Amino acid sequence: MTAQAKVIADPHDQVAAYEDKSKAYELAIDQIDSMLEGESHPIAKMATIVCILREHLPYYFWTGFYLVYDQELIVGPYQGTFGTLHISFGNGVCGTAAQERRTQVVEDVCKFPGHIVCDSRSASEIVVPVFNKKKELIAVFDVDSTAKGSFDAVDQKYLEKIFDMHFARATLD
Ligand code: SME
Repeated sequence: MTAQAKVIADPHDQVAAYEDKSKAYELAIDQIDSMLEGESHPIAKMATIVCILREHLPYYFWTGFYLVYDQELIVGPYQGTFGTLHISFGNGVCGTAAQERRTQVVEDVCKFPGHIVCDSRSASEIVVPVFNKKKELIAVFDVDSTAKGSFDAVDQKYLEKIFDMHFARATLD
């Protein structure tokens, strides 16, 4: 069964049962590249990326962006249960990724000092910084999973690639 077929067959599968996340990311990237061809608006891009990744990666639970605005993070396009509206730089996983300008992979959110709980079902998390062409931080991308240890270097590699391609190296902006 292909990764695509498996996702459609059981969209709520957890990562432990998911055999080939690289294949799922590659399918998602093909679709993102195709849907965003000719698009320059950052919100349109973010909403589309959230939608496509959540369709392809069955362990994605809360999935969305926090935008850099007025020296803090404010919730942007997302899918999932309620996401807190404002996060200060340095607070929680998102604020830490923003302050340090580097991806945070959190195996167990209970062990991350200052983790901000939006939904008690969240068990692991990845937050990836998003930069524009001038290397300015414009957002962070946040994904929670209801299983511990869902995210690893594979998620980090593909997510950083997507944001590099569509925000840091975007040709239309
Ligand atoms: N857990 C995040 C807050 C955002 S929610 O998960 C949607 C954090 O600690 O920054």
